[in-house]
Amino acid sequence: MKRRDNFLSLAIPDLTNEERSQVLEAMDSGWISSGPKVKEFESKFAEFHQVKNAVAVSSCTAALFLAAKVAGVGKGDFVIVPSITWQSTANIVEQLEGTPLFCDVELDTMNIKHEDVSVYLKKYGDKIKAIFPVHLSGLPVDIDWFDSISENTGVKIIYDAAHAVFSAFKNKPVGQCGLASTFSFYATKNLTTGDGGMITTDDDDFAEQCRIWSNHGLPKDSWKRYSAENSSPHVQCIVPGYKFNMTDIQAGIGLAQLKRKDELLSKRNFLVECYDEMLSDFDWLKLPVFKTEKGKWANHVYVIKILDDDVDRDKMMSELKKLNIGTNLHFYPVHKNIYYSEKYKDISLPNSEWLMNRILSIPLCSKYTKEDIKYVADALKYIYEKKLAHKTVFV
Ligand SMILES: Cc1ncc(COP(=O)(O)O)c(C=O)c1O
Repeated sequence: MKRRDNFLSLAIPDLTNEERSQVLEAMDSGWISSGPKVKEFESKFAEFHQVKNAVAVSSCTAALFLAAKVAGVGKGDFVIVPSITWQSTANIVEQLEGTPLFCDVELDTMNIKHEDVSVYLKKYGDKIKAIFPVHLSGLPVDIDWFDSISENTGVKIIYDAAHAVFSAFKNKPVGQCGLASTFSFYATKNLTTGDGGMITTDDDDFAEQCRIWSNHGLPKDSWKRYSAENSSPHVQCIVPGYKFNMTDIQAGIGLAQLKRKDELLSKRNFLVECYDEMLSDFDWLKLPVFKTEKGKWANHVYVIKILDDDVDRDKMMSELKKLNIGTNLHFYPVHKNIYYSEKYKDISLPNSEWLMNRILSIPLCSKYTKEDIKYVADALKYIYEKKLAHKTVFV
C-alpha cells in the first residue's frame, strides 16, 4: 500500500477566519484576560445547553476539581468513577484527599457499569459523596438512572462531559443534567478554545461558589474589578481560591466555534458514517456505539475494538504509524496506571482489562475528508490481510 505523504494525526483543530478575527478583536480591545468575551461565551454556552449557569475555566480538569470541591468532596470521602476515562477524573479525587472507587464499564458503550455503582453504594452508603459518570466519546450515560440514584441516596452527580459538548440525552443537551457537568475545550475536542473548560449547573449558588474558587477566592472577578463600568479594585478573598479562569482570547475562539456548531457536528457525523460503512464488513473489529435508545452522538473519538485474539494492538498502532497514520487509546484503564495500581492493588475489572489491549482510536476530526477516512480503512485492511500485526509469525 502506498504511504501517504503527510501524517494523518488523530485529530487537529478546525479553525477558520471566524476564530482568527475573534482573537484579533480580543487582542485589539486591550482586554486579553477574563473579560467580556468570557461572559458572552458563558452565556451562549448556557443558552445552547439550556442551563441557568455556565462558568468558564482553564480546563475540564480544573472544572472537575472545582465542581468536586464545591460539592464538598474532601478528606476521607469516596467518589465513584469509571476506570475507562482520562486520568483527571480520578486524579482530582486523590488531590482532594478522597478515594476513587473504580467501576468497570460496559463492553459495548464503554460507559460505567450500573451494577458496579450499585455494589459500591450498598457497601459504603453515606461515605460516598459523589459519582462522576463519564459520557465516553460523547455517548451519554443513562442520566435517568443516575437521577434516580441521586434522588434515592442524596449522592451528588457531576458528569464528566469532556467529550460531550454536542451530546444530547432524550433530545436535551447534556449540560443541564445532574448537579453539574464539566466540559473540555482542549485542542482536539469537538469544540476547542486551545485549552479550556466549562462547568454548567442549574444551581445558582453552586455556580457562584465555583466562580469564586476559580478566581483566587475573590467574590468579584477581574472584569468587575478593573472595567470602567465597575471600577472598584478593593476586594478581599473569602476562601483560599485557585487561579483557574479562562481568557478572552480563548473565549473568542470558543464563540466562533459555537457559532459553527452545526457545521462542526455535521462534518464529524458524516465522517463517523463513512467509517461505519467502510469498516462494516471487518468482522475482526467491533465498531463504536453511535447512539443508544435515549442518548446520541458518540462523535468525539472513533474507538474500534480488535476482536481477533491473534492481532497485537500495539503492533497495529506501529504499522499504522509506518503508513503515516496517528492513533491513540481512549482509554487505558486508570486503575492500571502506575500510581493507582501501586496504591489500590486488588482491583480487578474484567471488561476494562479486556478492553485495555483491544481498543484503538483512529483519526477523526472535522478537518478530515472522506478520502482520509478511506485511507485509514484501507490501511487497516492491508495490515490485517498481510498479517503485519499478527502475534503468530508466519514463515
Ligand atoms: C474524559 C475526560 N475527562 C477529563 C479530561 C480533561 O480535560 P482537559 O484536558 O480539558 O483538562 C479529558 C481530557 O481529554 C477527558 O478525556
